[in-house]
Amino acid sequence: MSELENPQDPAFTVHLNGSGGTIKGWVVVDSLYDGLAMGGTRMTTGVTEEEVAGLARDMTQKFTLAGLPIGGAKAGIVSDGSDREETFRTFGRTVKPLLFGGIHLGIDMGVTPADRAVFFDEAGYDPRYRLGAPDMPVDWRTYYEPLIDCTGHGVGVAAVTALEASGRTGPARVVVQGFGAVGRAVARFLEERGHTVVGVADVQGTISAERLPVAELVAITDEFGRIDRTRLPQDVTVSGGPDAWLDVDADLLVLAAQKYALGAENAHRLRARLVVEGANLASSAEAKEKVRAAGATLVPGVIANIGGAASAALAVTRVVPFDLAADARKAWVFDWVGDRVRQNTRDLLEIAAAGAGDPLPELLTARRKDRR
Ligand SMILES: NC(=O)c1ccc[n+]([C@@H]2O[C@H](COP(=O)([O-])OP(=O)(O)OC[C@H]3O[C@@H](n4cnc5c(N)ncnc54)[C@H](O)[C@@H]3O)[C@@H](O)[C@H]2O)c1
Repeated sequence: MSELENPQDPAFTVHLNGSGGTIKGWVVVDSLYDGLAMGGTRMTTGVTEEEVAGLARDMTQKFTLAGLPIGGAKAGIVSDGSDREETFRTFGRTVKPLLFGGIHLGIDMGVTPADRAVFFDEAGYDPRYRLGAPDMPVDWRTYYEPLIDCTGHGVGVAAVTALEASGRTGPARVVVQGFGAVGRAVARFLEERGHTVVGVADVQGTISAERLPVAELVAITDEFGRIDRTRLPQDVTVSGGPDAWLDVDADLLVLAAQKYALGAENAHRLRARLVVEGANLASSAEAKEKVRAAGATLVPGVIANIGGAASAALAVTRVVPFDLAADARKAWVFDWVGDRVRQNTRDLLEIAAAGAGDPLPELLTARRKDRR
């Protein structure tokens, strides 16, 4: 078993021009572990090679921190999503040798499970079967789709662990920026554990109250994470101001929307003492520095939001016990993710307490040694 993780450059980058059609994009394989790597496919009009490389590096870090025997990769397609059937058929033909060569590509922003089914189909790729690995007894969607809340579960575990480590015993006031698959699951997780959601934000703005009823908000939210403003509960405040979620008085801020939501230009408005990243690259390096300088704590996405990636990696590497019945298998995956997130959060905070600067590189070095 060998790990070819280069601290500087990706293992390799493939420029996609298309096969039997035209597309523009990249697959960046940041690292390989025993010839395997995986990551999602992002499709936006503005995606760049640099962005894909950053996300692939994030995947390497997530798997290293979680101790999963697989490297990090990511794909990006530059498209507005019109003519998506043709785009994903072309993508499937183009990345076929990668899929069969141990580079598993899943979904990310702008790509749906239906799109994934199209490119898997076009490539003739079925992750149930891989040379040298036991067959998966269930198909991919049957395994993966019940695990939709797994990322939110892990983000919630990171938040609760960090709140406990800060000595808090009572309920925390929570703001969740982004009310999509991740944001909704985190809000439910924290409310179920006695915390109070005082603010949520979607792309249209921020909704706040002394206590927001999470289930009621979930019921009026569409599949894109947009909350219907015509059906809001009573006594809530609605603000369309820029990044108004930063102005809500809270103990905990969960970032579960777009990348660089917290940046150099708005980090000074942060009121919460704890920030947990549910999204990838949710805060810029400058923002992280400002948060640290202000004495607040930030748990990065590579620790907190591994749920979706880890669920997929556990299946690709056949670590998950497939002999368990569906409910027990789901509980096993959630517990596995929760345990890793809890341990990494505790260890990160311990390193942070012992010295100044970013504690993540030291934790990564320790986990790399554990994995060899
Ligand atoms: N779904 C997963 O398992 C998973 C895993 C790891 C990381 N992520 C990342 O986490 C983030 C959220 O994922 P998701 O699956 O919940 O996405 P989603 O598309 O379901 O929801 C995104 C939410 O963010 C909101 N939003 C978008 N731009 C915003 C803005 N400028 N201000 C406030 N809110 C804004 C949207 O309205 C929506 O409520 C994404 O960046 C995604 O790449 C997701």
